[in-house]
Amino acid sequence: MIAPNRRYHITTFGCQMNKADSERMAGILEDMGFEWSEDPNEASLLLYNTCTIRDNAEQKVYSYLGRQAKRKQEQADLTIVVAGCVAQQEGETLLRRVPEIDLVMGPQHANRLEELLEQVFDGNQVVATEPIQIVEDITKPRRDSTVTAWVNVIYGCNERCTYCVVPNVRGVEQSRTPEAIKAEMVELGKQGYKEITLLGQNIDAYGRDLPGTTPEGRHLHTLTDLLYYVHDVPGVDRLRFATSHPRYFTERLIRACAELPKVCEHFHIPFQSGDNEVLKRMSRGYTHEKYRRIIDKIRQLMPDASISADAIVGFPGETEAQFENTLKLVADIGFDHLNTAAYSPRPGTPAALWDAQLSEEVKSDRLQRLNHLVATTAQARSQRYLGRVEEVLVEDQNPKNPQQVMGRTRGNRLTFFDGDIIQLKGQLVTVKITEVRAFSLTGEPIEARQLVVG
Ligand code: SAH
Ligand code: SF4
Ligand code: F3S
Repeated sequence: MIAPNRRYHITTFGCQMNKADSERMAGILEDMGFEWSEDPNEASLLLYNTCTIRDNAEQKVYSYLGRQAKRKQEQADLTIVVAGCVAQQEGETLLRRVPEIDLVMGPQHANRLEELLEQVFDGNQVVATEPIQIVEDITKPRRDSTVTAWVNVIYGCNERCTYCVVPNVRGVEQSRTPEAIKAEMVELGKQGYKEITLLGQNIDAYGRDLPGTTPEGRHLHTLTDLLYYVHDVPGVDRLRFATSHPRYFTERLIRACAELPKVCEHFHIPFQSGDNEVLKRMSRGYTHEKYRRIIDKIRQLMPDASISADAIVGFPGETEAQFENTLKLVADIGFDHLNTAAYSPRPGTPAALWDAQLSEEVKSDRLQRLNHLVATTAQARSQRYLGRVEEVLVEDQNPKNPQQVMGRTRGNRLTFFDGDIIQLKGQLVTVKITEVRAFSLTGEPIEARQLVVG
């Protein structure tokens, strides 16, 4: 039976991949006649799109679920869906733990939401976690922004980093065809989207699973080729891509980014550790020297590029000296932004079973020391913006000050300035930067223009 009020609410945890999946699932629900409810308590269908990258991410999901499961005892027509990475990891176990759940569905099944819900409305409790060939996007996502959009390029991950659950929950790499990607981008351009971020767990591994090689023996389809192929999409002024793996970040890719005017000078390339022995035990497949060479090459061709990354502290067996090599790398490179995390042992990953686990005290001490260094270097990196003129793509009103709008520079720095959102939304505005903080800027608008690139 279909719930009479047909209102839905989606709560999304985790990375951009999950956010993009949620937008597609919201699109499917709206096609089915469901309407968005801001208040989860007024919705008849609740969908949790979950993350299991670290233990605290998983625990958050259980605390939300517990509350809504209680509500279901009073409201029998409430439908509860658990999607995403916890769903994939736990499968049927989730139903035993929270029997009020109606549907458990892994990330590869996101585009099948309608048919899975039909089974639920026929009275079944459904678990969809078997590996499948991802159904090509037949849905129209309900996107959160009208200015910037995500486009999936490659799903899954073929690496086996010893700490990470992602390959277990997202499956093997599946690249979309260049034609399908471009068609989605052309549509976005027509709808007025100005900035597109191409998404993949390891986006620079794009195309390895597609057929064909060049006469030189290279894969026919790579991220570099894709950037050239989609660069002329009308209406789209800016292109970004994330997340990059150092193993696949080629010089050819760096040259393409420098050459193509729409590709923004911001690169998110996680290094995880600055110590070669730790990198080896993580199975990352590169050394810190190789990582530094990539950044040097980027800065040689794009001197002002911003660089961000992810790092893990307290990996099993990490010594104080090895941790200091991470500090050293961070100090040497000078990141614009760094996502840091204490190592969290994850079920089904090799490192979780190793003896040399570090205490919570050591991990949190290292995390604090690293975070302190990151804040100092980001503050120093911000200084270079002071007095400069930057191009800002206006996305929204400043939630803390309605007289101001906010957007991002090409280097991805959040920037605020005085202006009317009705007039400026989706515009590229040149802004003189008058104030800098570690992770954001304030400025004065010079001129708004409809930039036409290449
Ligand atoms: N594919 C990307 C990262 C995806 S996961 C890459 O390889 O770089 C996002 C981030 O979560 C990782 O970069 C890592 O820093 C962090 N992470 C993954 N597993 C973790 C774990 N077990 N404990 C702590 N952090 C973890
Ligand atoms: Fe996880 Fe490594 Fe794959 Fe990144 S590359 S998603 S860290 S297994
Ligand atoms: Fe989390 Fe899954 Fe992304 S585990 S980080 S939501 S791939």
